[in-house]
Amino acid sequence: MGVEIPQSMNALIGDRSIVTRLSNYACGNSSGDGTKLTSIPVPKIADNEILVRVTCVALNPTDFKHIDIVSPRGAIIGCDYSGTVASVGSKAPGNWAIGDRIAGWTHGGLYPDRGSFAEYLKIPGDLAWKVPSSISDEQASTFGVSAVTAMLALNTRLGVPWIDGGNDKGRTNTPVLIYSGSTAAGLYAIQLAKLAGLKVVTTASPKSHDLVKEYGADDVFDYRSPTAVEDIIRAYPDIDRAMDCFSEGASTDFCANVVRKNRGWVVKLLDSGKTELDGVKVEFLLGYTAFGADFQWLAPVGPKFGKVPSDREALRRFYASLPKVSQLLKPPPLKDIDGGLENLSVGLDLLRQGKVSGTKLIARLA
Ligand SMILES: NC(=O)c1ccc[n+]([C@@H]2O[C@H](COP(=O)([O-])OP(=O)(O)OC[C@H]3O[C@@H](n4cnc5c(N)ncnc54)[C@H](OP(=O)(O)O)[C@@H]3O)[C@@H](O)[C@H]2O)c1
Repeated sequence: MGVEIPQSMNALIGDRSIVTRLSNYACGNSSGDGTKLTSIPVPKIADNEILVRVTCVALNPTDFKHIDIVSPRGAIIGCDYSGTVASVGSKAPGNWAIGDRIAGWTHGGLYPDRGSFAEYLKIPGDLAWKVPSSISDEQASTFGVSAVTAMLALNTRLGVPWIDGGNDKGRTNTPVLIYSGSTAAGLYAIQLAKLAGLKVVTTASPKSHDLVKEYGADDVFDYRSPTAVEDIIRAYPDIDRAMDCFSEGASTDFCANVVRKNRGWVVKLLDSGKTELDGVKVEFLLGYTAFGADFQWLAPVGPKFGKVPSDREALRRFYASLPKVSQLLKPPPLKDIDGGLENLSVGLDLLRQGKVSGTKLIARLA
């Protein structure tokens, strides 16, 4: 017997004009929360999609950045979710049944019918994972933006072996630098690299040193120390790859300086426009390219992004492996934002103000 699905639902949507968003982009700041909690139609699913009743969401910096700069008025905000399957498209892959526990990352912040800060969301059947009973809804909601970005950076860009037992080749012979290991992306990256058999070197504020070690870092350096780059090179002379989980200010230069002698490679998460820093290859990774569709920010004037089919395949593979692999991975420390959809703006503002460290903000919606 099917679950009754309503025609409309509550959702948090973007509410800034293009003029305000362009001005925010130019000035680097914003005012007001830029969202509206309102009733909109429940998304209609395509044959390959499933409809999810959202139970929990996790908050990411990309959510407020979308609200301030990218999200057209009316776009549903939010990427990370866990929930239960409410309906299944006639050709949806994944063997889903109504009531199954499900989680993942959807391309929120850009479309009027796609986003997780809502009572229902839609997602292609092969781009979500089945949550085992050992993982709570709150924990499951964190295996989205942060975990997927760590996987894409390490497994598809930096040659770190997958931990799903696949027989493709990777390299464990040199250490990896995870810059800003106490970010949510960093905590997943530390674990994926460590489980793959690499030596993991990271940077963090002293207050986060115990945390990153608890998640598997072999060594940690304070990124504010003026000798940090030299200290890392001295201790790990063969280090040749880095994931820059901060990607602001001088962080990518820091990473490039660490790996330069070994003609290394840096993956960064925010775009500075540079693809090389004094001989070191620097690649900007944007996880949204894994959803199998081209898209544009600030249309019609803003940057266009092409789909990356190999990233879509990596996302499919990662989520297919997670029912087992999630048992090996520890979600970041969680902090619950009480108050459901009504209170998400408060959590987003904490992220906007840089007041979240070593913690993943999550909220229960149902
Ligand atoms: N391109 C993509 O697809 C993609 C995907 C995911 C994330 N991102 C971006 O990656 C960044 C991290 O995201 P997240 O969700 O993992 O972050 P997060 O968990 O919110 O990051 C908070 C951490 O940032 C660190 N931090 C603050 N100021 C710093 C500084 N000056 N230098 C170095 N580290 C500093 C703090 O570490 P300490 O307390 O140790 O100082 C804190 O733990 C965000 O900018 C996000 O938008 C991009």
